[in-house]
Amino acid sequence: MPASPSIAIYPGSFDPITNGHLDLIHRGARLFDKLIVSVLRNDAKEPLFSVEERTEMLREVVSVYPNVEIDSFHGLLVDHAAEHSATVLLRGIRAISDYEFELQMALMNRRLSPGIETIFMMSNEAYSFISSRLVKEVFSLGGDITGLVPPTVEVRLRQRLPHIQKKEK
Ligand code: PNS
Repeated sequence: MPASPSIAIYPGSFDPITNGHLDLIHRGARLFDKLIVSVLRNDAKEPLFSVEERTEMLREVVSVYPNVEIDSFHGLLVDHAAEHSATVLLRGIRAISDYEFELQMALMNRRLSPGIETIFMMSNEAYSFISSRLVKEVFSLGGDITGLVPPTVEVRLRQRLPHIQKKEK
């Protein structure tokens, strides 16, 4: 019997996608037959970009990977994974500070759905200090974010916050 394809979900807020996320997508796409990058629809958070804008930005940057799809979800992540027949949840760990929260989520998800495995990948050290929150903060204060996000995301940030002037070095 042929083995069933390995399908992984890479969930997150992606507000916006950073080069750290993109590195994980690049590496994850090599490990699984299908990688679904899924944006959480969370009304409680006040995002800079709508879910539609975030999925659009994601689609722009993953178009080079034929086995990567973009989706969004609300409710339990494990239910979303089951809908896609995914057996893996992919998450990145940048530093030890990420570990505690990630462990909690992984153990809760395992309790909810023992058949779904969380797999962690260590961030590329070049991106281990980047977060969407810091990118937005630095950008909104006029700092240079070149190389931290895909160019298309920098363009979107500039459109969203047109009054922000980039500081000269
Ligand atoms: O990029 P983020 O904000 O760190 O991603 C967090 C995310 C989306 C992975 C997490 O909030 C999540 O999975 N939410 C879905 C709700 C859920 O399933 N909760 C119970 C298990 S922790």
